[in-house]
Amino acid sequence: NAGKAGAAPGLNFEPVAPNTDDKLTTPAGYLQDVVIRWGDKLFSDAPDFDAANLTAAAQRRQFGYNCDYLGLLPLKGQHEFLLVANHEYTDEVLMFAGYDAENPTREQVEVAWAAHGLSVVAVTSGRRGKRSGALDPIVDHRLNRRFDTHSAFELTGPVAGTDLVKTPADPSGRTVLGTLNNCSGGLTPWDTWLTAEENFNQYFANAASVTDPVVKERLRRYGMTGGATERKWERFDDRFDLLKAPNEANRFGWIVEVDPYDPTSTPKKRTALGRFKHEAATTRITADGRLAVYMGDDERFDYFYKFVSTDKVGTGDNRDLLDHGTLYVAKFTGNSPAAEITGDGTLPSDGAFDGAGEWIPLVTSRGSEAISHVPGMSGVEVLLFTRQAGDAVGATKMDRPEDVEPNPVTGVVYVALTNNTRRLPGQADEANPRANNKHGHVLEVAEARNDAGAGSFAWRVFLLAGDPNDPSTYFAGFDKSQVSPISCPDNVAFDKRGNLWISTDGNALGSNDGLFAVAVDGEFRGQVKQFLTVPVHAETCGPWIDDDRVLVCVQHPGEGDGSTFENPTSHWPDGGTSVPRPSVAVTWRADGKKIGH
Ligand code: FEO
Ligand code: CA
Ligand code: CA
Ligand code: CA
Repeated sequence: NAGKAGAAPGLNFEPVAPNTDDKLTTPAGYLQDVVIRWGDKLFSDAPDFDAANLTAAAQRRQFGYNCDYLGLLPLKGQHEFLLVANHEYTDEVLMFAGYDAENPTREQVEVAWAAHGLSVVAVTSGRRGKRSGALDPIVDHRLNRRFDTHSAFELTGPVAGTDLVKTPADPSGRTVLGTLNNCSGGLTPWDTWLTAEENFNQYFANAASVTDPVVKERLRRYGMTGGATERKWERFDDRFDLLKAPNEANRFGWIVEVDPYDPTSTPKKRTALGRFKHEAATTRITADGRLAVYMGDDERFDYFYKFVSTDKVGTGDNRDLLDHGTLYVAKFTGNSPAAEITGDGTLPSDGAFDGAGEWIPLVTSRGSEAISHVPGMSGVEVLLFTRQAGDAVGATKMDRPEDVEPNPVTGVVYVALTNNTRRLPGQADEANPRANNKHGHVLEVAEARNDAGAGSFAWRVFLLAGDPNDPSTYFAGFDKSQVSPISCPDNVAFDKRGNLWISTDGNALGSNDGLFAVAVDGEFRGQVKQFLTVPVHAETCGPWIDDDRVLVCVQHPGEGDGSTFENPTSHWPDGGTSVPRPSVAVTWRADGKKIGH
């Protein structure tokens, strides 16, 4: 294919081949290093990591487990940055020798509590010489912080202080201990961090014994139906038992705003942005200067949302901006006859899976007040049980909306839909056009008038992922002999040029997960190229791309297939017989030039 020789600007690298190697594989000419690992200390009073002797006291002062979202904020000059990372969940069988899942010890549970949450850690590139892209943590930096399952978080917005969030331990309904299952996230224009509480349901026990039918249905809609939880935390803290603290679960599932530059700040759970299994929250300024926040609910057949603030983004601290605004849910309508959406990926006769969409308003928040736009639900109910509000207004059921990212060059919004093997042929629609969608897809959403505050949008499928030899795949029309296989898009990011970077989780093609880059405009639109692969059984998270380096979170290396502390399937990054350690990794050009040039 001589006509397509070369690469899009900024994506000039030799693609990495799919593999199952237990290492981070980067393109020829790139170097790599680990920035920080699970158990590395943020404070000098923490002991060195000792896999055989984990303690909660140590873990509270060390980098947590299973890093997912990654942000790199400016700190000082060209060399110092503030790294912010989520610690989504813990893999006890990999963390503890001889772990007995039926009878965890109090110390093991407390280690897990401390390994969840968030890290803020200053890093520097100043210790390795001019050309190196390596970053080292600055232990004891005044901005270093750990948040875990017992740190204080403030509920703000209309749900704060209402009866449905009052608990025996917090009769005020305003102070929550902890943040749980924080997956991806985003940054605001005023340099705060939005972190997304995702699968919080898994921590709450005994929904099966709840008798009130309204409460039971609310719990079911959020995935809480069972008895004991997998981690058995309810044995050690009553708030994880729905029979003892029925409202505690209502205090999770929020977007949390953290000010990493103020080491005394209390993070805020922003209830005006709704409660669901939040994957991420990414922002764009509207034409009239307000803030739009795009958010996915990562569940099969769940929804894609947008919050638009009432007030304009100011030059001050924008302290309460996210407590005032309207939450919308997306409805996608195809423009091709339904009979042409066959469920096997065959393009309809107009040559595209595309159409029009509308943002359906659900609730408008004004500080402590919430005005419902959904018949039969109060404003507070819409914020707390947002999924049921989406059901009521007929929002479009999507194939697991994961991360979302607006293109900084064009404004077009990209939505990763990771997979949905439960979609039946009769349930295929133009925005979710494949039945048994094993490999996922990526949608483009172009707001009307290119205004993030618009009430309607045009949309188009950009990518139907999979092996390019699979006829159900689509790479924006690019020559499929010239692309890398890709499966299960999850976190997404843009570089400054407007190239899309896609990290994957759960590659259903049999190779390790990885990070891919693709041009979205110009002659190379759709040319997916694999930039790196991660070690065995790891998920690729982050990612963070700038001119000088690419960072990824390597989440859960060695998870699955009977892998244990004694016999893990991965020994990354320490090698030998070591236990795997979820870590942040960085890669850069050996010759010191810019990424992809
Ligand atoms: Fe934690 Fe939706 O991935
Ligand atoms: Ca069409
Ligand atoms: Ca994710
Ligand atoms: Ca995922």
